Amino acid sequence: MLRTLFVTTALPYANAPFHVGHMMEYIQADIWVRFMRLCGHTVHFVGADDAHGAPIMLKAEAEGITPRALVERVAAERPRYLTGFHVAFDHWHSSDSPENVELSQSIYRALRAEELIDVRTIEQFFDPVKQMFLPDRYIKGECPNCHSKEQNGDNCEVCGEVYAPTDLINPVSVLTGATPVLRDSEHYFFRLSDVRCQEFLNHWVEGHSASGAAHLQPEVRNKVREWLRLDESGKSALSDWDISRDAPYFGIPIPDAPGKYFYVWLDAPIAYLASLKSYCDSGRARAADGSVQDFDALLADPATEQVHFIGKDIIYFHSLFWPAMLKFSGRKVPDLICVHGFITASGEKMSKSRGTGISPLRYLELGLNPEWLRYYVAAKLNGRVEDFDFAPDDFMARVNSDLVGKYVNIASRCANFLADQFGGEVLELGETAAWTELGAAALGVQVREAYEARDTARVARLAMGFADQLNQYFDAAKPWELARDPAQRQRLHEVLSISVRGFCDLTLWLKPILPALAAKAEQFLGCGALDWQHRSVVRRVNAYEHLMTRVVEKQLDALINPPDAQDPKALKLAPKPAPPPAADGAASITIDDFNRIDLRVARIVSAESVEGSTKLLRLSLDAGEGRLRTVFSGISAHYKPEDLLGRLTVMVANLAPRKMKFGLSEGMVLAASAADEAGEPGVYLLDPDSGAEPGMRVR
Ligand code: MSP
Ligand code: ZN
Repeated sequence: MLRTLFVTTALPYANAPFHVGHMMEYIQADIWVRFMRLCGHTVHFVGADDAHGAPIMLKAEAEGITPRALVERVAAERPRYLTGFHVAFDHWHSSDSPENVELSQSIYRALRAEELIDVRTIEQFFDPVKQMFLPDRYIKGECPNCHSKEQNGDNCEVCGEVYAPTDLINPVSVLTGATPVLRDSEHYFFRLSDVRCQEFLNHWVEGHSASGAAHLQPEVRNKVREWLRLDESGKSALSDWDISRDAPYFGIPIPDAPGKYFYVWLDAPIAYLASLKSYCDSGRARAADGSVQDFDALLADPATEQVHFIGKDIIYFHSLFWPAMLKFSGRKVPDLICVHGFITASGEKMSKSRGTGISPLRYLELGLNPEWLRYYVAAKLNGRVEDFDFAPDDFMARVNSDLVGKYVNIASRCANFLADQFGGEVLELGETAAWTELGAAALGVQVREAYEARDTARVARLAMGFADQLNQYFDAAKPWELARDPAQRQRLHEVLSISVRGFCDLTLWLKPILPALAAKAEQFLGCGALDWQHRSVVRRVNAYEHLMTRVVEKQLDALINPPDAQDPKALKLAPKPAPPPAADGAASITIDDFNRIDLRVARIVSAESVEGSTKLLRLSLDAGEGRLRTVFSGISAHYKPEDLLGRLTVMVANLAPRKMKFGLSEGMVLAASAADEAGEPGVYLLDPDSGAEPGMRVR
């Protein structure tokens, strides 16, 4: 039965270029899609940029450009990576698009009509310095579940727990380092705790797609079952989901709710549909019968399989929120969530924000063959949720020994014999004993099963096992000896023909992984485009051109250890990872703006801890005004009161006094910190050089 598939990959945040983790996901999905197409299925394969949210807004602000300009700049780079690694999306769109506004708002309206939207006043963190509600990602603190430090406000990278930022222990604003304060705000909630959601999800988690594949991999299903388990009182373990954010926010407005926007994670998955819609509307999408594919018709058809490739960090969003949103807005629900683990670089996790690891662009610029990486990724992925390490030695060994030493070797060994002795002609032998003994037919069936299950590691093993057999067959037949004996001419022709036929099968098996190499091999074989629906026959091979070179250690070294930064070329090739969004940078200001801040040298006359606060010290400061000022400062974790007595420091003297729980604070002392770096953040009070006197102006 021929299938129709709608396939997506997770939408990358549009504030940074792709890293190798993204490429890994695209390569995995692209291989699967190519395989499906070679089987004759119809596939619509779309991606998009995830454009909305606070990080992008704040990064753009820091650069002094609009969020849209930032997103466009990042989007303009996407094709270099995608074409570079032969990732053939049918369409690439953006969550910041008219289609997505329309779809997001209409899905929201449908959920509201189902009485699954609640409006509640909640207390939310507000940055008193930056004067805005703090997005989850801009509050860090200790995970309430596993107590890992420096975790984001929305979910824990260590244990995967999803929570509200107010659940964090010892929260800090990443933007300013200030301790955030709680303020009231009206928020919109998707009532995931509703019994209908619970019932539907419990059912969906155990379900199968039209083609019989389970919606979820077993290990993912177990995790989701845990999330769905009822507590002792029989209440849903799922909490309602906060889907609104207050202005200022770069996002899609919530209908009938001025100043409120959809939280980025609401509109992001909907952009899967927006991208598909934009693709269909372009008229380029074709149905199986060749007619122009209509968006609504595609999704209304129960036979259409909706497939999402994602990483293990975003399972919660894709296996709970997303199916429920679709279901209760009357839409098709996902058929297959394909979860992969992470690629790491020598054990280190490649991080979205920290950007460590090998740069895909540098890989291409150094002239490394993109199909080496495709093959390596394929050889590592087995369809389960496991991480793997990009190990340079392993990479080199796999490519050189498997692809060059085994697969390509077969063609290069046959090519000259066939050309010299037989003018390239290949015998069509049918199912001779020698051929049948090699067992290609049975292996081919296993290869297909492995692809279907995304076990490309198995595909590679099966293919290389077969390549070994072919090479052994060739060696055992000793064609170089046969060629010296005119009586063995027929036998020689048979051996070469069988070897070429084996190479042809291998090419088909590896084609989803190595599309460009397969195209060259097809050229050599002169057999037209190989696929799984038709049996191709090789009649005459063409002149052989070298199919693939070996990985050279020097190249790989250059990728792993970028030459030192003195080399201007190296700077170009290995751009430093961008500084964390907005935390470090801010839009530029004029000297007049700066002069509005009255900075003064002040002496710390007394310092004491504050009862009821683990963070604050109460300081009395002499700024040469003939009176002392009281300033509360969040440095208690870093300084003992007695160590501060008599010290000079710098204060902001014209900061509006602020009423705190413990009294009035009449200024702020300045300290350096790196609050958003890994590890315990240090805080360092500023210290004027000797000779400075209280009251002196700092400028
Ligand atoms: N924008 C969200 C996804 C929204 S989907 C509606 C997001 N973006 S992301 O850029 O951080 O990640 C995009 C994809 O890359 C995710 O599937 C994520 O798991 C994957 N990866 C990020 N780092 C990875 C590795 N080191 N290895 C493999 N995949 C990784 O999350
Ligand atoms: Zn945790």
